[in-house]
Amino acid sequence: MEDKLKHSEKILVVDDDEKIRFAFLEVLKKEGYAAVIAGDGEEALKVIGSEKLDLIFMDISLPKITGLEVLKKMKEEGINIPTIIITGYGIMQNAIKAMQLGAFDYLTKPLDINKIRELTKKALTKSTTSGDVEKDNTSFNADITDRYELIGRSQRMQEIYKLIGMVSTTPNTVPVLITGESGTGKELVARAIHGNTMGTGHPFIGINCSAVPDNLLESELFGFERGAFTGASERKLGKFELAQNGTIFLDEIGNLLPGLQQKLLRAIQEREFERLGGDVPIKVQARFIAATNRDLESEIKDGNFREDLFFRLNVVAIKLPPLRERADDIPLLANYFLAKYNEHLNKKVKGFSSHANSILCSYSFPGNVRELENLIERAVMLARGEEITDDILAKMLSVNPSVKDPVLPINGTTFKQSRDYVLNLFEKQFVENKLTALHGNVTAAAKSSGMTRQNFQRMMKKCNIKAEDFK
Ligand SMILES: Nc1ncnc2c1ncn2[C@@H]1O[C@H](COP(=O)(O)OP(=O)(O)OP(=O)(O)O)[C@@H](O)[C@H]1O
Ligand SMILES: [Mg+2]
Repeated sequence: MEDKLKHSEKILVVDDDEKIRFAFLEVLKKEGYAAVIAGDGEEALKVIGSEKLDLIFMDISLPKITGLEVLKKMKEEGINIPTIIITGYGIMQNAIKAMQLGAFDYLTKPLDINKIRELTKKALTKSTTSGDVEKDNTSFNADITDRYELIGRSQRMQEIYKLIGMVSTTPNTVPVLITGESGTGKELVARAIHGNTMGTGHPFIGINCSAVPDNLLESELFGFERGAFTGASERKLGKFELAQNGTIFLDEIGNLLPGLQQKLLRAIQEREFERLGGDVPIKVQARFIAATNRDLESEIKDGNFREDLFFRLNVVAIKLPPLRERADDIPLLANYFLAKYNEHLNKKVKGFSSHANSILCSYSFPGNVRELENLIERAVMLARGEEITDDILAKMLSVNPSVKDPVLPINGTTFKQSRDYVLNLFEKQFVENKLTALHGNVTAAAKSSGMTRQNFQRMMKKCNIKAEDFK
C-alpha cells in the first residue's frame, strides 16, 4: 500500500464535528500531508503547544474555547502558524475579527474540497517564501459597534468582509477605493472600515464631492486662512484637518474636478497640504477612503479622471457586487429590514408569504440594497395582516406576472438529479428563513413550519445548518 507522505508539512484540523474532521483527513491524506485533529479549542491549544505545525484549519464555534480565542492566544504568544478559520455562517464581524487576528483566510461551510486543496497549497507556499509580510500591529478592537453591520452571508460578501478586515490592519496611510452601483453599501463599508480600525472617538468626516458646489469644494476640503478671498473673514479648517487621525470619506469621487484631483493627489502622496491663502504645510493624519458608482477606468479614457490619482487611490480596491449577483442574501436582508421597520413603525408583521418571497428573490433590484430597504419599509407600512403578501409587493414593483412562476435553477442531467438539486436549495432556504425570522429558536421554527421538532431538526442537519448561528 502506498501510504507514503508526499509532503513533510503537518496540518492541524480543529472542529467539533466528527464528520468534518473526517472529511478533512481524507482530503489532506489524499494530497499526501500529515494531519492531526482536535475536537475543541482547549485540545487545539495543547496540540499547538506541543507539535510542530505548518497550517491550521479551525472552526470558529468550538466547545470550551472558541476559534477566535485560540487565534488571539496564538497572536499574544507570538505563535505564527497560518490559520484558516471555518464558519457555518459568515457574519461580518467574524470574518473581520479573524482577519484582524491574523488568520490567513476565512472559509464558510458547506466546505468546498477544491477550495481546501487550493488554500492549503497557497498557505503553505506563502509561509515558507514570505515570512517578511509582517502585519502592522494595529490593536484589536474588541468592542466593535454593530451599528454599521453589513448584512449578507453570500460568498461575495465574505470576500468583502475579508477585505475590510485586512484593510483595518494596514497603516492608515493606505487609501481605499470603494466602487459599486448605487445603493450597494459603499458608505456602509467605509464606516465599517472606520469602525473596525479606530478606537472610539476618532472622527469620520464625509464629503460628497457632487453635492457641494464646485467653487466651495476646495475650501471645504482644504480650509482657508483669513483674507484668502473676499468674504474670508475668519480662518476655517477644512475636512482634511477636521478628520485628524480618523477617516476622510470622499464620496462620489468620480465627480471631482480636474484641478482638485491634482491637489488631492498631492495631499494623498505627500500626506501634506496647505489651507487656501496659507503657506504652512499641514500634515494629513487621516485615512482616505473614496467611493464612486462610476467606472473610473472609462472616465480615465474619456479624460475626466486622472490616471495617477486612480492608481494612488486604488491600492486597496473594494468592489461591491450588485444585489442581483448575490440574490441568496435577499431573504436575510428582507428579514433584517422587516425587523427594523417593525420596530420603527411599531408594527408586528411576522414574515413574507412564500409568493412574496419568490417575488423578492427573482426581482433584479436595480437600486440594490437601498431599493430593497425602501420596498420593505413601504410594505411593512401597508401590511394589514401578519404577513407581507405578494400583491403588496407586486403593486409596488409592478413586476411582470412571470415572477409568480420563477425560473428554477435546473442543474443536473437526470430528472432525479435536477429535482434533488432544487429541493435541496429550497429546503436550505426554507430552514434558513425560518431560523432567521425566529432568531434560531428551533421549537418555534418547527411550529411555524407545521413540522415536528424532530423533522425540522433532521432537515437542519441534512442542510448542515446550526441553530446557534442564528441567535
Ligand atoms: N449589506 C448591507 N446590509 C445592510 N444594509 C445595507 C447593506 N448595504 C446597503 N445597506 C443599506 O442600504 C442603503 C444604501 O447603502 P449606502 O448608502 O452605503 O449605499 P451606496 O453604495 O453608498 O449608494 P450611493 O452610490 O447611492 O451613494 C443604506 O440604508 C444602507 O444602510
Ligand atoms: Mg453613498
